[in-house]
Amino acid sequence: MDSTVQTLLLSGAQLTDAALERLLPSTDTLPHSIHRAMRHSTFAGGKRLRPILCMEAARMTGGGAEIAKSGTGIPEGAADLGAAVEMLHTYSLIHDDLPALDNDDLRRGQPTCHVAFGEAIAILAGDALQTLAFQAIASLPSPPSATVAILREVAVAVGTGVGRVGDLETALPPGMIGGQVVDIESEGKPPTADLVESIHRAKTGALITVSIVAGGLYGMGMTRTEASTDTIARLRTFGEKAGLAFQIVDDVLDMTQDSAQLGKTAGKDTASIKATWPAVYGIERSLKDAEELIADAFAALEPFGAAADSLKALANYLVERKH
Ligand code: IPE
Ligand code: IPE
Ligand code: MG
Ligand code: MG
Ligand code: MG
Repeated sequence: MDSTVQTLLLSGAQLTDAALERLLPSTDTLPHSIHRAMRHSTFAGGKRLRPILCMEAARMTGGGAEIAKSGTGIPEGAADLGAAVEMLHTYSLIHDDLPALDNDDLRRGQPTCHVAFGEAIAILAGDALQTLAFQAIASLPSPPSATVAILREVAVAVGTGVGRVGDLETALPPGMIGGQVVDIESEGKPPTADLVESIHRAKTGALITVSIVAGGLYGMGMTRTEASTDTIARLRTFGEKAGLAFQIVDDVLDMTQDSAQLGKTAGKDTASIKATWPAVYGIERSLKDAEELIADAFAALEPFGAAADSLKALANYLVERKH
């Protein structure tokens, strides 16, 4: 792995973990079971990719802010925004693993939340991570107008839309829950290209995209400059392309890696007859598509020059990763 990416991943994960440690109730807090469950899943060893993308977007748009932390260039509070995104991601994983959804026993190399704490507490731990995420965002030091814009973007991104399905234009933009619904409802059916793309853009692309867009909004808010619509549009395109590539690679890794490497049960998608990219296109074409999407993602950030180098390096890692 490129040493720049290695440094970004390591320092970004440390900043994220420190913020999560501060924001999550301790395991001594009553009722113990739910706080232990929330921490079990949050600190089980995720890659922290979404918060790292979020902080790098904030650095790109707000690195010049007077309040920037010395040295890092990441605006103060951006780690809390990243941590909020990671709480939403962790909530989505806890619910994704439930018997009623993907029914998985292993996550991040640990027993899944419902295996360790029972289904009721796992469902509630997911719910609680979601509300805590919005609490953390509402408590950010950004100007209220920026905070409200971020809250709205994030709420839509975890929501129930799926955007375009074939020729049917729906009213709601892609949202994580909407994507999960269609993912579950499509199990066992032969997948079409349009269907898989709409699932992937919604269940995974939306949260990755909003991590980057929210980071960009936060950076601009902290410099007390009005959000540039062009910058946000470019970050959104970058996130959509990289987010889709990310889920394509997740599908491929499910078929090519073992459970120990993944920290989750390998071969699960084929066993559950999931609508995946390789199920439609095969592995070789899937990897090519992911690489092309990353090239498109890069193009969206061209006007930012070297300021976008970190985001580009991370996008490359999204497709080169092996877990
Ligand atoms: C896994 O995401 C779930 C998907 C959306 C495919 P990650 O691969 O980012 O999982 P962690 O956070 O590192 O465990
Ligand atoms: C998960 O997709 C997407 C969300 C959790 C929203 P997957 O079901 O492919 O994720 P893994 O493979 O279990 O991590
Ligand atoms: Mg799933
Ligand atoms: Mg799953
Ligand atoms: Mg998967």
